[in-house]
Amino acid sequence: MKSLVIIGSRNPLGKTSMAAEAFSSGFATKGCSEKIFLVEKNIERCRQCDASGWGLCRNEGICVIEDDFLSIVERLRQSDIVVFATPVYFGDMSESIKTFLDRLRRITRNEKGKAGIYEKPAIGICVAGGGGGGAVSCCFFMERVLAACGFTVEDMIPCRRQNLELKKSVLVGTGKWFAEILTSGT
Ligand SMILES: Cc1cc2nc3c(=O)[nH]c(=O)nc-3n(C[C@H](O)[C@H](O)[C@H](O)COP(=O)(O)O)c2cc1C
Repeated sequence: MKSLVIIGSRNPLGKTSMAAEAFSSGFATKGCSEKIFLVEKNIERCRQCDASGWGLCRNEGICVIEDDFLSIVERLRQSDIVVFATPVYFGDMSESIKTFLDRLRRITRNEKGKAGIYEKPAIGICVAGGGGGGAVSCCFFMERVLAACGFTVEDMIPCRRQNLELKKSVLVGTGKWFAEILTSGT
């Protein structure tokens, strides 16, 4: 069983990474977990290719931009569960994860693009590390785009600086729980 954790923070030792690591450590009891830091990748924003604002993605489920997007999508397709973890910026997702999800939503308008993504379990983690506000609105925005991509959104977990230790224990339990569910097939 494999989980892929896609992280929208630029900080490998930061709060978002710690939250993501908590999930991975729980999942690792029965499976393996890989991480991707989106800021280390080259991912351009959607070009809204043609005059109507649509593009090749609508009819063919692929993106014309030659960057790291497709290789990440392929890794996502090979995973049993995907976790999206973002720091909360202005009550919303970080720019790197938003850019990635904007393009994923585009290619999944099409059956070919949906392959390996439709109904795949996904979890969102949103970490408000400043005042602590905005984690719930961030979860709301992320859940909408994950559902639009066709994922089965299993949970959205808001965290704030003040409760991060508590939420880390919830995330370890969530990781364990999903590794067990996916292994047993129930
Ligand atoms: C542009 C920007 C906007 C932010 N907006 C919020 C916010 O709405 N609520 C909050 O609690 N923290 C906010 N923060 C703080 C981040 O959530 C905090 O730095 C986060 O923990 C960073 O995650 P990291 O530790 O993974 O780098 C913001 C930070 C930045 C840079």
